[in-house]
Amino acid sequence: MKRVCLLGATGSIGDSTISVLKQHPDRFQLHSIAARDNWKKIAGLAREFNIKRICMFSETAAKELSKELGFPVLAGMDGLLELATEGDVDIVVNALMGAVGCLPTLAAIEQGKHIALANKETMVMAGPVIQDSLKQHPKAFITPIDSEHNAIFQCLAGRPVEEVKNLQITASGGPFREWPMEKFASIRVEDALNHPVWSMGKKITIDSASMMNKGLEVIEAHFLFHIPYEQIKVVVHPQSMVHSLVQFRDGSLLAQLGAPDMKIPIQVALTWPERLLLESAHLDLPALAKLTFFAPDFKKFPCLALAFEAGKLGGVVPAMMNAANEILVEAFLNGNIGFMDIPRHLETIMARAPTIQGRLDLSHALAADAEARKIAVSLIN
Ligand SMILES: NC(=O)c1ccc[n+]([C@@H]2O[C@H](COP(=O)([O-])OP(=O)(O)OC[C@H]3O[C@@H](n4cnc5c(N)ncnc54)[C@H](OP(=O)(O)O)[C@@H]3O)[C@@H](O)[C@H]2O)c1
Repeated sequence: MKRVCLLGATGSIGDSTISVLKQHPDRFQLHSIAARDNWKKIAGLAREFNIKRICMFSETAAKELSKELGFPVLAGMDGLLELATEGDVDIVVNALMGAVGCLPTLAAIEQGKHIALANKETMVMAGPVIQDSLKQHPKAFITPIDSEHNAIFQCLAGRPVEEVKNLQITASGGPFREWPMEKFASIRVEDALNHPVWSMGKKITIDSASMMNKGLEVIEAHFLFHIPYEQIKVVVHPQSMVHSLVQFRDGSLLAQLGAPDMKIPIQVALTWPERLLLESAHLDLPALAKLTFFAPDFKKFPCLALAFEAGKLGGVVPAMMNAANEILVEAFLNGNIGFMDIPRHLETIMARAPTIQGRLDLSHALAADAEARKIAVSLIN
């Protein structure tokens, strides 16, 4: 029986994780849960799974929940770190949204945990720090939940990076794939939230519309799999059935296919290398009829180009881009800036990234994150 700590239990990945856990009550026990504000949903989960270890990031939500349940509830970053490092926990599922996920990932690595990682912002903000920490704590390991990285993880199946010619990360292309560029200035929040394939949290849905999500995934793949940016390609694949591919040096191109259902990569991340039964849609190739693939349009989607640039520049640039993007996406969702202001401001902010000496450490990443948020707020205002 594996005990699971689920950070981000109220979100889209949180929901899918819970439905996977429910299918395997003999394998997994949901031991602890965390969210930010949604204490009512957490109260329901606490009762359903008899959970006593809970953190609400918001102090107010923690107080409300504690009153409701009649026992103490942890709060803030200290609470997240306490749950992620508990001796009783075998697997930490990090399904938090945003850079807040970075420190809990690091803390879990330091305790030698298995981390099932959905929070891609962890790797973008502090990839080298995570790599170094994994080296120092060899018992710890990450299995990726992001469907593209989970696909690559399955195709690689532990083969050495020297055998890899390139990684090919697929992208649905989002809601604006077929929109002419002239219409981009008039994109409304409801247009951007209308993802053609996936149903996800709001931030990642906007990132998918701008293709920043794919950019973040390129950086995540670079750090997870130790592959240079020159060997990472993005391929637009509107049907989202091929979740990503690995081209090996012998010419074999391995792909992982599956229905666009996050329960599949979540279960693989929890049970790898075992494959358990999962109630989920199964693909019927003749019914699919046609799978199409295109090169991405970097002009229409400047966020994708900026993310490649940030990754190649390295240092604190990815952390700054990631933090600024979080602020800009929120501003777009609140109607304070236009859709194309996101890449416009990101470019300005990235140009102001300081050069660091040596390898990125945690203090660099945290300082860069804070500085980028400050600049982003000032640009919005
Ligand atoms: N959704 C997908 O299909 C998908 C696919 C691949 C990767 N991912 C990645 O998975 C992560 C989660 O995405 P999502 O779509 O599940 O997001 P979501 O639906 O917005 O859920 C985010 C979760 O994180 C919690 N949270 C946010 N800020 C927090 C904070 N400061 N402290 C504690 N908890 C906090 C939220 O709690 P409240 O509800 O209380 O706000 C919620 O439980 C993201 O990094 C995303 O890029 C998602």
